[in-house]
Amino acid sequence: MRVIKTKNYEQMSKKAASFIMAQVISKPDCVLGFATGTTPIGTYDFLAEWNGEGIVDFSRVKTVNLDEYCGISSENPHSYRYFMDKNLFERINIDKRNTYLPDGQAKDCNEECDAYEKTIGSLGGVDLQLLGIGNNGHIGFNEPAEVFPKKTHRIKLTESTIEANSRLFEKKEEVPRYALTMGIQTIMKAKKILLIVSGKGKAKILKKVLECDVDPKVPASILQLHPDVTVIADAAAGEEL
Ligand code: F6R
Repeated sequence: MRVIKTKNYEQMSKKAASFIMAQVISKPDCVLGFATGTTPIGTYDFLAEWNGEGIVDFSRVKTVNLDEYCGISSENPHSYRYFMDKNLFERINIDKRNTYLPDGQAKDCNEECDAYEKTIGSLGGVDLQLLGIGNNGHIGFNEPAEVFPKKTHRIKLTESTIEANSRLFEKKEEVPRYALTMGIQTIMKAKKILLIVSGKGKAKILKKVLECDVDPKVPASILQLHPDVTVIADAAAGEEL
């Protein structure tokens, strides 16, 4: 595992975007795994900028996202499909038909989760998965648990995640209680993983993720076992390392 500390959020974002750009340049038809949330917004801004300047070409890239809320439509500004469209896909030359997220409105969630696993498999697996971490150490929406969940599944969000995500909603009651998420095994099957972490609020959990025993109560700690993980933390998130 490589751990890189940067001066600030902008430098973290730029390094992460360079890493993703390098992946696309070395394999133009690669499969990128993307995350939503506040942390990757700066990374997506750099990728959009460089794509506009013709430095990186997404025309053959395919993407899969980690997760999606249950019960809200893709037109809802809180949906992760909407987030990805606005923050990245509509700003780069990607074919939107090659961008995949779980369908949080599917009638049969189990069927949808199986279909999502099949989609990832039929694309040949993920070449590079971008991750953020939750305050409780979650990756995707794999919340602290007694065992590591394996495949894509429906999950009840914990109070701490609902609380953290409520900053993006008008009222806490509006935050969906369930989501579909790639499982830990799905994430760990990615050939490379890039974890980005920003802000003082993540300093303690980042230290724990990197230094504790591998433990499903700290889901991201499993990344210690992955052969190719790069962590990019800004100074505030990396202050306890
Ligand atoms: C998002 C996701 C989550 C976030 C995590 C951090 O698709 O799966 O695991 O990466 O909650 O979110 P932010 O970046 O908002 O702190």
